[in-house]
Amino acid sequence: MTDRYAVIGHPVAHSLSPRIHTRFARQTGQDLRYEAILAPLEGFSTTVRAFVDSGGRGMNVTVPFKEQACRLASRLSERARLAGAANTLMVDAEQIVGDNTDGIGLVRDIVNNLAHGIAGQRILVLGAGGAARGVVHPLLEQRPHSLVIANRTAERAQLLVAACAGLPLAPTSCGFGDLAGRSFDIVINATSVGLADTALEIPVGIFAKGCLAYEMVYGKNTPFMHLARNAGATVSDGLGMLVEQAAEAFLLWRGIRPETAPVLGELRSEGA
Ligand code: ATR
Repeated sequence: MTDRYAVIGHPVAHSLSPRIHTRFARQTGQDLRYEAILAPLEGFSTTVRAFVDSGGRGMNVTVPFKEQACRLASRLSERARLAGAANTLMVDAEQIVGDNTDGIGLVRDIVNNLAHGIAGQRILVLGAGGAARGVVHPLLEQRPHSLVIANRTAERAQLLVAACAGLPLAPTSCGFGDLAGRSFDIVINATSVGLADTALEIPVGIFAKGCLAYEMVYGKNTPFMHLARNAGATVSDGLGMLVEQAAEAFLLWRGIRPETAPVLGELRSEGA
């Protein structure tokens, strides 16, 4: 019988996940069907339960339900626990297991697809919300030289730093105003401003020579990307991260890692 998977979100119609997973399934010869399910804002857990009851084997979770997915899971991976959010759910003997593949997706995109090592690099993460929280630990695991979390509201960046207590490398926090005179080898925009087309109040000097500027949003040229390009940085949107987090979820569900490069290439050529 064909196994069923889905992405659950609100909104969800724009999601590329069905296209990505359908291609992964074809490529690896896996018999599965993957759909997009719109959950009512107040009905996430009901939607998950209904999908599981109807035979669903796994789910991706997107905005705004990742924190709820973390609470709903009866078991959590360490990386989901550290992120405080789950983007991947697996049904295992009637139990729902939560994981988070966003951070490893970002790391794999930077290291493998963009060929920019993270070890020894000075990293700046802009933003301290859910998106930032999901990627900070996996970035730290790559042993960068340093990691600074800068946020419009500096106190929120401090809270995220506090949540990293006990890790081998301690990140530091600051407000955007404290970035003047500092430069970084990798700058990651994990704020939500890219979605709104708003410019960030950041100094152009933050992009060191050879810097990689990474925008987590995909499918558009954001003001952050424009600023970074003008400052001479190598710029990437977040499409590769999306495909890599999906591949990691596919691996968890099916035990086989799909090739990401052809799928990423196809999506790019289709204008994603
Ligand atoms: P997400 O889950 O997408 O990270 P979130 O948890 O609401 O969403 O976090 C949004 C992030 O974008 C925060 O870091 C937020 O900064 P504040 O903590 O100061 O609110 C940041 N952000 C949103 N709009 C912004 C803007 N206009 N300028 C700068 N930062 C902004």
